[in-house]
Amino acid sequence: MNTGISNKEIIAGIDIGTTKICTIIADVSSNGDYHIIGVGKYPSEGLRKGLIVDLETTIASIRESNHIAERMSGVSIKNACVGITGNHIKSIPSSAVVAVNNPERGISADDKRRVLEVAKRIEMPSGQRLIDILVRDYIVNSEAGIRDPLGMSGMRLEVNTLLITGAIMHIENVYRAIEAADVMVDELFLEPAASGEAVLTSDEKESGVALVDIGGGTTDIAIYQDGCIAFTSIFPIGGDHFDSDISFGLNINVKESERIKCLIGGVDKESSNSQEIITIAKTVIGEEQKIPVKIISEIISPRIEEILELIKREISKAGFWGKIPSGLVITGGGSQLRGVIDVAARLMSMPVRIGRPHNISGLKEDVQNPIYATGVGLIKLAGKNRKKITNGNSTYPGINPNQSIMDRIIESMKRIFDWYSK
Ligand SMILES: Nc1ncnc2c1ncn2[C@@H]1O[C@H](COP(=O)(O)OP(=O)(O)OP(=O)(O)O)[C@@H](O)[C@H]1O
Ligand SMILES: [Mg+2]
Repeated sequence: MNTGISNKEIIAGIDIGTTKICTIIADVSSNGDYHIIGVGKYPSEGLRKGLIVDLETTIASIRESNHIAERMSGVSIKNACVGITGNHIKSIPSSAVVAVNNPERGISADDKRRVLEVAKRIEMPSGQRLIDILVRDYIVNSEAGIRDPLGMSGMRLEVNTLLITGAIMHIENVYRAIEAADVMVDELFLEPAASGEAVLTSDEKESGVALVDIGGGTTDIAIYQDGCIAFTSIFPIGGDHFDSDISFGLNINVKESERIKCLIGGVDKESSNSQEIITIAKTVIGEEQKIPVKIISEIISPRIEEILELIKREISKAGFWGKIPSGLVITGGGSQLRGVIDVAARLMSMPVRIGRPHNISGLKEDVQNPIYATGVGLIKLAGKNRKKITNGNSTYPGINPNQSIMDRIIESMKRIFDWYSK
């Protein structure tokens, strides 16, 4: 996977979504340029609500998606960063404090590692395993809000974190699916964290913003404050629910319902007042059917309002209502529903915009659709982590891009082994 060019590295990200698998390959340079060179997308039929329920089908789809991206980029994927979601994921706030080892020399990478180790030592909910540690801030002596304490002078180092945990069974299924597709998992990232990385600006993250990824099977929320994720939540409702509602309401099959939804579905005024009538070629009873466009809007509207109400309740419950001046950034395929931004702005009384992957080069037109937010974000998160590692500033047991391929494979296997024995 190493390009042989010292300041550039190829990184692959695989988003295992409920409706599609997406593989993104990028050439990432040390100055933070994410140059997309391959994009693969293949329908995913082995997941329900963000969870793998059919391993073989999922493996086959991952292989197909990888092949498409590999053919496009001319690069063969051996390792990848992978996203994980589902309502088994929990985020648990955890703080820790350690004494700095050599205060006269300043806070070292080892002090940082130790304080994070202590923060990790919580009683894990039964059947759950740690996926990631999101650092909110460090406190040096009594000075809070520090992003990176490396090299600072101080006697006492504290950290506030958000521990992301997930059900062992579902995490293992992700590893199995990726490895069976002949790829090794470099790092596992929380999907809303990846989506946020792809579509949010630094200003939004600093001032406070809620990222909402409405996918096919789940709606994921990540609230950012002071540049970091302060809260996450995932619930098992997504775009697929619109399809089942349309299917039930009109007695047509789910695939056709999705097609109609994407073609003419909308919750904007134009759709709800439309006098247009469309003809569907075949129904489940084998007849042609005439459907007023406004009926689709009437079916979809309560569902999108339900999702938005859930989001609102979740933001309030977590104590962030009134604390996210940059409002809501909606991404994922669900953000493409006509009128969703206006309905959200009305229900939430805050600024709302669609989030598309940004700050990338190369095949950027190919990943403009919000369905690619997670895939692009995986690349960006991985790139950021590697930068920390090359700067000797890692909070992750990650990868050294200067290692040989063989060393990296051994390293990666060791990390997977360590991870399993955590
Ligand atoms: N133009 C559109 N109008 C309405 N819905 C759309 C449109 N385009 C895509 N969608 C819906 O977006 C959903 C897919 O979004 P996305 O690709 O982000 O999901 P996913 O990543 O596969 O799923 P998840 O993240 O929930 O596991 C589907 O329900 C699809 O029908
Ligand atoms: Mg998704």
